[in-house]
Amino acid sequence: MSRSRTNSGTGELLVELRRDSGVPLHQQLESGIRERIRQGLLRADTVLPATRALASDLGLSRGVVVEAYQQLVAEGYLVSRTGGYTQVAPAAARIPQHDKAKPSLSGPPRIDFRYSRPDVSQFPRAAWLRSIRKVLNETPHDALAYLDGRGSVALHEALSDYLNRVRGTSAVAENMLICNGFAQGSRLLLQVLAAAGYRKLAVEDPSDNELRAVAAAAGLESVGVPVLETGLDVEALERSGADVVLVTAAHQFPTGAVTSAGTRAALVEWANRRGGLVIEDDYDAEYRYDREPIGAMQGLAPDRVAYAGTASKTLAPGLRLGWMILPDWLVEPMAEAKFVDDRGSSVLDQMTFADFVARGEFDRHLRRMRPRYRVLRDTLVGRLAEKVPDLQPIGVSAGLHVMTWLPPDLSEAEVVRAALERGLGVYGLAPYWVDGGREGLVFGYGGLTEKAVVEGIDLLAEAVAAVRR
Ligand SMILES: Cc1ncc(COP(=O)(O)O)c(C=O)c1O
Repeated sequence: MSRSRTNSGTGELLVELRRDSGVPLHQQLESGIRERIRQGLLRADTVLPATRALASDLGLSRGVVVEAYQQLVAEGYLVSRTGGYTQVAPAAARIPQHDKAKPSLSGPPRIDFRYSRPDVSQFPRAAWLRSIRKVLNETPHDALAYLDGRGSVALHEALSDYLNRVRGTSAVAENMLICNGFAQGSRLLLQVLAAAGYRKLAVEDPSDNELRAVAAAAGLESVGVPVLETGLDVEALERSGADVVLVTAAHQFPTGAVTSAGTRAALVEWANRRGGLVIEDDYDAEYRYDREPIGAMQGLAPDRVAYAGTASKTLAPGLRLGWMILPDWLVEPMAEAKFVDDRGSSVLDQMTFADFVARGEFDRHLRRMRPRYRVLRDTLVGRLAEKVPDLQPIGVSAGLHVMTWLPPDLSEAEVVRAALERGLGVYGLAPYWVDGGREGLVFGYGGLTEKAVVEGIDLLAEAVAAVRR
């Protein structure tokens, strides 16, 4: 065991590392710091030692310390400040011990509208197994060695054909990169952009909150830009001084707005004028129920848009399979970043997915799932209209979630709490706002049955009535 003392902003920070424990050192460092924050030993705003200094004190490589800090930033325990220093987050002491988003009254809710689950019980096991068999029977030994950081050529080819056909992208196999979901792809991209001199990331407000922490860890400032019914407010983007922007153009998360043709053109114009980059998170575009989905923005400007897709909504989040179509100049640095990060995603999974897509199984699976999700969505929206009519859904008929605003007499926190007391998980908008905003609820329905959706909305109606009393 080695113990090291190092200076933190408020005094000494004791970090214990057991090199013989088999637990990776970055995890030991993470849990050491996390525990000290939880126990109140490292208070809000404490400045942590510079990564280089801590690495030297502890006899670690700097990468280990950076990784630990990044993880804790992503979890919300630390914040990374401009000027390159890292502090204990002001709200860290209030972070519950397990899942930040999960209200914790008495065990998990019986019916849970938590967003992000597709119906994994419908995973196409038989078709996937056929692809695994084929790959294991036919793949030459050499293909099982390390790949180039971009991943499997067979998957680049299958996915570029699929995306060009279904999403209107302009992809060539050489510009594709396979990653472990959007989480890894976006993290690596922000790191590469920061290294290339990009400074400020604009995100939609409201939007998924994880990316802001990731941007901070990469050394990028982030700024929220309002979302209108037609997509991002491009004039506000212009004023923000950002040089990179992330959009969920096909189906904004969480509002469900679709970026209009005019806004798409204005975003591309902005990128051309500014020398900027648009990151297009095309996370659930396969599910549009009222019409054909709008094509991806990447097809309009392949040199200005970095496109990201994921199997997390279509197949299963546990696969950790994502893909990017990159502008030429980003291909090499991203391939290098991916290789350095984890030596590439699993070859067998990539080849299995390539076979699955090339044989048309992906299309078949989506054709089967679309009507199921549509029924769930219609059931949810219909029951809301019947039981809680003043919670009106906004956004188009698409995806795996619905958002509603709350009327002014209802408090988000009180509704969430009253629902939880009835065994129901519903989730507020608060974590998604960058600069604060109106209260509302986001309902994920992908992993529920119709019966559970109906029961859930009935419980919500009771909760709302109780709050109003
Ligand atoms: C807005 C958004 N983008 C992307 C993803 C997918 O992330 P990943 O591919 O890392 O699972 C999610 C998952 O919930 C999401 O909400």
